[in-house]
Amino acid sequence: MSQAIGQAITLAITGASGSPYALELLKQLVLAKCEVHLLISSAAKVVFATEENLKIPSKPDAAAKFFTELTHAQPDQIKVYGKEEWFSIVASGSSAPKKMVICPCSTGTLSSIATGACDNLIERGADVVIKERGQLIVVPREMPFSSIHLENMLKLSNLGVTIMPAAPGFYHMPKSIQDLVDFVVARILNHLDIEQTLVKPWGYETYKKNK
Ligand SMILES: Cc1cc2nc3c(=O)[nH]c(=O)nc-3n(C[C@H](O)[C@H](O)[C@H](O)COP(=O)(O)O)c2cc1C
Repeated sequence: MSQAIGQAITLAITGASGSPYALELLKQLVLAKCEVHLLISSAAKVVFATEENLKIPSKPDAAAKFFTELTHAQPDQIKVYGKEEWFSIVASGSSAPKKMVICPCSTGTLSSIATGACDNLIERGADVVIKERGQLIVVPREMPFSSIHLENMLKLSNLGVTIMPAAPGFYHMPKSIQDLVDFVVARILNHLDIEQTLVKPWGYETYKKNK
């Protein structure tokens, strides 16, 4: 039996390294019963093939079916839009979900958002969330960051965008790559106000002991 689908979130995946973050985040959003509006850049598909050995179908409907099966989502819980689907809900302030995450975010997309380019649906979607003063979380990945990247991040941060670089901590004693992925995804979910069981909050054990 299908369960009610809750809040809508836009998830954009771009061509920076870090597809395991995107995949885990998508799984967690599905688990949290979010309605996910998914945007995937062409470069992200290349990175997915390289890092996850997964071939994402090019047609949006086929990609939606692919991710629905992969994450065991309910029918219609994941919607995928093409790069120029200007009639989709994420393209307008009157209909776009108030929350959007770009994970991972390439420095290219970061730059386009910082300049307001709106040249594809990911850039337009981000522009809409910024202008509507919704919640935009950007997860950039590059090493090292140049002054261009840092200036773009500062510009977006000053506009209220949350910059969460894919920089997992080690104080939870990770034993696997999945533990590192979970750390980053857990922090994103915290910011989205979505309950998560991937990583216990800092100080949780001491807090429980003293309670
Ligand atoms: C395997 C692979 C890894 C990449 N890693 C990064 C990265 O970590 N950060 C980044 O900014 N770009 C990275 N790139 C380059 C971007 O994919 C490229 O700049 C692309 O134009 C970004 O387009 P998009 O923003 O539309 O996804 C990578 C490309 C490939 C194929």
